[in-house]
Amino acid sequence: DRSVKIAPSILSADFANFGAEIEAVEAQGADWIHVDVMDGHFVPNLSFGATTCAAIRPHIKTVMDVHLMISPVDAYIDGFAQAGADFITAHVEAGPHIHRTLQAIRAAGAKAGVALNPGTPASAVEHLLDICDLVCVMTVNPGFGGQKFIPLASKIAKLRAMIGDRPVHIEIDGGVTPQTAKSCVDAGADVLVAGSAVFKGGSVSNPAPYGENIRAI
Ligand code: DX5
Ligand code: ZN
Repeated sequence: DRSVKIAPSILSADFANFGAEIEAVEAQGADWIHVDVMDGHFVPNLSFGATTCAAIRPHIKTVMDVHLMISPVDAYIDGFAQAGADFITAHVEAGPHIHRTLQAIRAAGAKAGVALNPGTPASAVEHLLDICDLVCVMTVNPGFGGQKFIPLASKIAKLRAMIGDRPVHIEIDGGVTPQTAKSCVDAGADVLVAGSAVFKGGSVSNPAPYGENIRAI
């Protein structure tokens, strides 16, 4: 279903070649580029920060979708906004003041996203839907690519009903494959993040598999 956007996660790309990887995956049909920021504290892994985001920004023609798996968040928002993030998504579990964080993201000039870990109920975002542009439903416990999908269709459907006619995206992140994508889209998701399922079998010098993988989702 191509009204659904596919957002490849560069966590599964070649870290020595982000610029070329982004250009290759966009040429192969990526709708957004998903950028996973990890702090070794909120999640048990490290990736990269705002400096890397600023460096890759000129290679992104589409949408730069930054997923912050960090805590605390607020002191870093301006840095990611200045790096050129279109969306900045923070976790509802990352601190006591997610409402303030979402307001600060919008004040910095970016679109605001709120992410939910698999164990967090849909109701956690009920009072945030008027101040956000995206809800990210994690279908793995965040921290690593290539994990097994956790089915959460009833949570996605509950969110879609709660959102109603607001212009808020539902993004699914973790374990998305051609096998798992359909249940998410049927439940109301409109953005699918995929890392390993997009980058598997391809490379900068052999990018055609990226396109085949994107079309298969
Ligand atoms: C998980 C990240 C995801 C991840 C997706 O912590 O937020 O974006 O890279 O990778 P796959 O699609 O391989 O599960
Ligand atoms: Zn992510």
